[in-house]
Amino acid sequence: MITKKTINDIVETARIEDVVGDFVNLKKRGANMLGLCPFHNEKTPSFTVSPAKNIYKCFGCGKGGDPVNFIMEHESVSYPESLKYLAEKYGIEIEETQTSQAHKEEQQKLDSLYVLNQFARDYYHEQLLQTDIGKSVGLSYLKNRGFTDETIEKFGLGFAPKDKDAFTQAAKRKGYKGQQLKKLGLTSKYDSDFFRDRVMFTIHSVSGKVIGFGGRIMSKNVKAPKYVNTPETEVYNKSKVLYGAYFAKRAIRKSDECILVEGYTDVISLHQSGIENVVASSGTSLTVDQIRMVKRYTQNMKILYDGDGAGIKAALRGLDLVLEQDMNVKVVMLPEGEDPDSYLQSVGSEAFGEFIESQAKDFILFKSELLFSEAAGDPVKQASMIKDIVTSIAKIPDPLKRSLYIKECSHLLKVEEEILMNETNQIVTKSVHQAEDQRKKDQRQYARKKANEQDGNFPSDLGNFPSEPPPYLPEDADYGAQAPPPQPLQRRPAAANNAEYQEKDIIRLLITYGGQLFDPENEAVTVARFILSNIEDVLDDFDNDLYERVARECLDMTIDGTPITPQHFIQHEDKDFRHLAIDVLQPEFEMSPNWLDKHDLPLRSQPMPEANFNNDSISAIYWFKIRKLDKLIERNKASMKKAIDEKSGEEDVMKAMKIHQKLMEIRKDIALKLNTVIVR
Ligand code: UTP
Ligand code: MN
Repeated sequence: MITKKTINDIVETARIEDVVGDFVNLKKRGANMLGLCPFHNEKTPSFTVSPAKNIYKCFGCGKGGDPVNFIMEHESVSYPESLKYLAEKYGIEIEETQTSQAHKEEQQKLDSLYVLNQFARDYYHEQLLQTDIGKSVGLSYLKNRGFTDETIEKFGLGFAPKDKDAFTQAAKRKGYKGQQLKKLGLTSKYDSDFFRDRVMFTIHSVSGKVIGFGGRIMSKNVKAPKYVNTPETEVYNKSKVLYGAYFAKRAIRKSDECILVEGYTDVISLHQSGIENVVASSGTSLTVDQIRMVKRYTQNMKILYDGDGAGIKAALRGLDLVLEQDMNVKVVMLPEGEDPDSYLQSVGSEAFGEFIESQAKDFILFKSELLFSEAAGDPVKQASMIKDIVTSIAKIPDPLKRSLYIKECSHLLKVEEEILMNETNQIVTKSVHQAEDQRKKDQRQYARKKANEQDGNFPSDLGNFPSEPPPYLPEDADYGAQAPPPQPLQRRPAAANNAEYQEKDIIRLLITYGGQLFDPENEAVTVARFILSNIEDVLDDFDNDLYERVARECLDMTIDGTPITPQHFIQHEDKDFRHLAIDVLQPEFEMSPNWLDKHDLPLRSQPMPEANFNNDSISAIYWFKIRKLDKLIERNKASMKKAIDEKSGEEDVMKAMKIHQKLMEIRKDIALKLNTVIVR
């Protein structure tokens, strides 16, 4: 186990903006920094980093935490692994105490696999550079293909000799066990070497560990497969790895684009010529995990296809997966008979760069053109082509983008826009319903879990509220009889109304601080004036009648200059007002926890609200507006559903979708502002 002291060192040294900045482009925004969230799809940034608090928080998906959490989440590693990552980044030496035997063994087991893989890499590399046969066969082959010494070094290229078990024997002499060798796919079950008489390509994890190999045959012997690759092992999960990612990630982030090719040699060749933002799928179709890995670094993907024509359609179908992840995809078709490596070698890096730049086509348009030319004059084919294309378009999460594509494709395919729109919306609606059902299911599950956790275990934040009434309550005020007896902390009913809590918080601020200056420098603006001038236009929208009346009274008082004080309400002629005043002035006033449940945002109230009432006012207003927006969003959703159900025309549906988009944007904006208030 890592010692407390080391953990402290790491936690105190790690800067959130550095740690996140290695993966996310951050821009300064006031006291915070802002970027695109690496954990969910988004086009407008809601991922916020606060250097002052050393935390990150995404207002889109709700993920948040400190540098250690970030690495755990982002790199999908355990707590100790995350600490180790940070220790390495900051050059902190790790002290470890005795750990449990089982854990230690588990760790050692994994470590030893990496060590053995590294040994294999060094062995093949040495064979290539130091042995006569390696030099004359392997090295000359690689040199012939134009790879420099530097490249061979960097990518850990090697050579596996022809002998039956030369490597296995060498490893055993070093003390490695046969069982381990087999586990890593280096040795066959008959104890012979898995890779023989091949040039070797080392496969690295995204953090640079050796996880596997590919071996290429050098002769033109057609019987044997051109490449053999390490099978799935405990450290090599093919669906999560892209070849070259370790060497490419920096360049991908910098250029904000990832170039995807098929082969090992394509990656290496492009890299050598200075195009470093390139990874390979190793000849298989992309997986969601691979796309998500790329998406940590960029949303733009350019796919280079070998110019052999075969299989291109199948490949294109696989790309819907990429669209679904909200990536922008361009494709480049290389000239016939060329792959990226061969084409680069034949025209040089400058012409190559120009070619892929000028030939890159938007994926959907590319696909449309391709299918259109194939279906010419064949109505049956045309129908399936339309289905095929709208299926792709429907995968794009952004409705505006979708409608633009529909327009373009309608030209290209010579199909009426209306038909394409219709087909697309049918698919979208179906998947929206499916997603909605899933979301509800998840929510119910989450609520159940939460309820179980909360039984007898109330969030501790509430305990921070002062247990004495605030000092400005007159000692002798006759409120005891009317006030409800102090409630012991208990779990609120799950159905508590969130709108009520938000409105109530506004009322709380008005009653408690309404007469105080919002800004000590500015005599003209009281808290009440500040709040009310912001929500005056939506006072009608208060759900709770009483709260609305209080707000209106405060508005009247503000206008005619009557000071707003807690006493005014405590001694109010209206009994309901008096009750409410006591209620909100009570220390156990319930507020934020519910919002936390609903919005998964941190508690914004400080233990002593007095110190923070202007921030509280600002956020209360934003919360209130968010709540109103949510209502509008729900209403708009209903009319969207109605338009769909009643088939009242695509235009209405699209309009509703656009409104939805707009509302969500406003909501996000407010959420962002809210964050500024919280963090400052
Ligand atoms: P290619 O056949 O395009 O090979 O396969 P390449 O990368 O251009 O290699 P060179 O230039 O002929 O040396 C693309 C990728 O598909 C995988 C490998 O990852 C290869 O890089 N592949 C190919 C295999 O795994 N096995 C094979 O038999 C062939
Ligand atoms: Mn090739």
